[in-house]
Amino acid sequence: MNMSKPAVLPQHIAIIMDGNGRWARRRLLPRYAGHRAGLSAARATIESCVRHGVPVLTLFAFSSENWQRPQTEVGSLMELFLGALETEVQNLNANHIRIRFIGALDGFAAALQEGMRRAQQLTRENTRLTLNIAVGYGGRWDMLQAVRRLAADVAAGRISTPDIDEVHFSNALALAPVPDPDLFIRTGGERRISNFLLWNLAYTELYFTDTLWPDFADQELDAAIRWFAGRQRRFGLTPEQRGGTHV
Ligand code: IPE
Ligand code: IPE
Ligand code: MG
Repeated sequence: MNMSKPAVLPQHIAIIMDGNGRWARRRLLPRYAGHRAGLSAARATIESCVRHGVPVLTLFAFSSENWQRPQTEVGSLMELFLGALETEVQNLNANHIRIRFIGALDGFAAALQEGMRRAQQLTRENTRLTLNIAVGYGGRWDMLQAVRRLAADVAAGRISTPDIDEVHFSNALALAPVPDPDLFIRTGGERRISNFLLWNLAYTELYFTDTLWPDFADQELDAAIRWFAGRQRRFGLTPEQRGGTHV
């Protein structure tokens, strides 16, 4: 195995953790068993990112559309989520990880909202890795809440309409103030964005793998990071303008 350090490390990795249900079905297990296995994969991936020195990781855990899944599945996901808030947060904090939740949090039960608030508060000074967990998140929801926020700023006279630029808009989005993802990973074989970070992925390198999320392991993250190191990011310019890779 090639263990050489990649030349350029993504500063922000965003992952759609997909394939838990199919992983379980292949084992003739209920879907929640797949979600439980998915939590272990998330834990391992967070640790790998810390080892690599990746400063920001964003995990898509539950989309705005996932609320429409059968009640039993939503219920088991919420239970898993609540359990994880109780058992994982101390460990993440001990590892100097800052936790943030992005999404329409007011849709969650009071105990969950309180757990999320406390986790954010407890870890707010940590600097080794910023972990954004997208729950009840949708890219369209995010852009709409940003528009509402900016409209309120205009109405209150804090900004005038012609002055609204990309920086203002980015700053009104849920991910702010972290920079846009450099590397996007989707497991589970689908080649789509599924309403994840619609604005922030504009120039992100997209990596898709058929591996189901519970099977996603260190070597695969290493492979994605190595693949990223070989991309030439042009941002609309010519190859000559960009010079080598990753300028
Ligand atoms: C991703 O796995 C986890 C969530 C969306 C909560 P899925 O539950 O979508 O698994 P598949 O895609 O059905 O296999
Ligand atoms: C995307 O997966 C959302 C998460 C992984 C949290 P989905 O399974 O919901 O996406 P679709 O339905 O296949 O597009
Ligand atoms: Mg899925």
